[in-house]
Amino acid sequence: MQFKSVNSAFDRIKTPCLVVGLFQKARTDATFAALDALTDGWLAKQIKRGDIDGSKGQTLYLYDPPGLNAERLLLIGCGDAKSFDERAYIEVNRGAARALNSGGAKQAVSTLPALELKQRDAAWKASQTVLATEYALYSFDEFKSEPANNKSALKRLDLWQPEALPKGTLERASATAHGVAFARDLANRPGNICNPSYLAKQAKALKKRFDSIEVEVLDEADIEKLGMGAFMAVSRGSEQPGKLIVMHYRGGDKNAKPVALVGKGITFDTGGISLKPGAQMDEMKFDMGGAASVFGTLAACAEFELPLNVVGVVAAAENMPDGRASRPGDIVKTLSGQTVEILNTDAEGRLVLCDALTYVERFEPRAVVDMATLTGACIIALGHEVSAVLGNHPPLVEALKQAGQESFDRIWELPLLDEYNELLKSNFADMANIGGRAAGTITAASFLSRFAGKFHWAHLDIAGTAWVSGDKKGATGRPVPLLVEYLARCAAESA
Ligand code: BES
Ligand code: MN
Ligand code: ZN
Repeated sequence: MQFKSVNSAFDRIKTPCLVVGLFQKARTDATFAALDALTDGWLAKQIKRGDIDGSKGQTLYLYDPPGLNAERLLLIGCGDAKSFDERAYIEVNRGAARALNSGGAKQAVSTLPALELKQRDAAWKASQTVLATEYALYSFDEFKSEPANNKSALKRLDLWQPEALPKGTLERASATAHGVAFARDLANRPGNICNPSYLAKQAKALKKRFDSIEVEVLDEADIEKLGMGAFMAVSRGSEQPGKLIVMHYRGGDKNAKPVALVGKGITFDTGGISLKPGAQMDEMKFDMGGAASVFGTLAACAEFELPLNVVGVVAAAENMPDGRASRPGDIVKTLSGQTVEILNTDAEGRLVLCDALTYVERFEPRAVVDMATLTGACIIALGHEVSAVLGNHPPLVEALKQAGQESFDRIWELPLLDEYNELLKSNFADMANIGGRAAGTITAASFLSRFAGKFHWAHLDIAGTAWVSGDKKGATGRPVPLLVEYLARCAAESA
């Protein structure tokens, strides 16, 4: 999809389709009023016929509007003007994209970015229009014999708004949207295809695509030799060899310390010997959503050439029950030297991540952020709207929260208090890998914090946000938007 910013007078816009937002009842919106005036009241008259009243998400095509140079108008209901907020803005943009895509116009001009939205500027609205459009047009039909027809009929969307956008706004939004789609693709691919070796191949493909990306893949022999006993405790139980994938994006000064992103890359989580129940187990193919967000974010950085160094580390393994799999009660030694009693083999994410965290010490990172579909408890606590954040450095947590707010890929902090550490006590090793039913998301983070003592670190639990269940089942690409925003802020800070 191509996006461009335009601001010529409405009657000079020559387009197959002009997208216009329509509020319910009192139509005080300036764009609507200006368009209606140009049509000499024709527009208001069409609406009076009653086929659309402006309820959020309604759409209506109108043809050959007099006084305008557009072949058609796409009206999209925006709901009540008083409650028009960010969420409504995004929803309306997604709805418009879907309606455009199922219509006949290959190009359109959207005036939605000109809608007034409290607290949000032109750059925000334009970026969100790009993201929402790409999000809505995304489809995953790699494995369908008959791909859905009319796939991406829309090829180009011009964004109309009166103000000029800061340089690079659309480029960054578009790169972010591509990163989101990349992450969604990876996470949507099933476990029999997207296994650790497949992820390693994806890393090598990224390196081919971008000169700014270098890749190093550690195989099980390397991982074993290094002393990553926790990682191996998970990986050993699968026929598919685990991989530690290290990707360097070098966009900053040669000697500038990198931000490290660490992703949980469990390409399928059966639970291991502590086997999961069968219902919805298929969704455990998304258990590499954290890893997918590392890929998507690095690709976005490379695409818009962010001036920053980022190292992405993906701990890729499959959690299977097998003759060689870990048993409950097994004790392993982590790369850090600390020992762990594996009381539940289904708490595998923290086992691969803890060794990956120790591994990134060698890059002397300025900050480390890990992303993981780590706990079912996170879904109980926060549902599917916001991810959890916990960390050992309040300014880092704050920076991530702000990035989440700005990108509308929101997070909420849970308390990483020392008291919770008590819950990880083991009679036989330095710690257990589970803390019992209470505060599951926090005890998982407490566990990780023991491997993050040497740097500023934050953890994002994306179990509830990385995918949606039900009839729209699929990956969301979160938290790529948050991460790109955060990294862009890091780059601006060091500029
Ligand atoms: N990948 C799961 C967490 C998960 C569950 C994500 C459901 C999304 C939906 C993780 O590996 C896991 O199994 N966690 C256990 C931890 C428990 C054994 C302490 C959980 O949440 O039940
Ligand atoms: Mn598990
Ligand atoms: Zn898992």
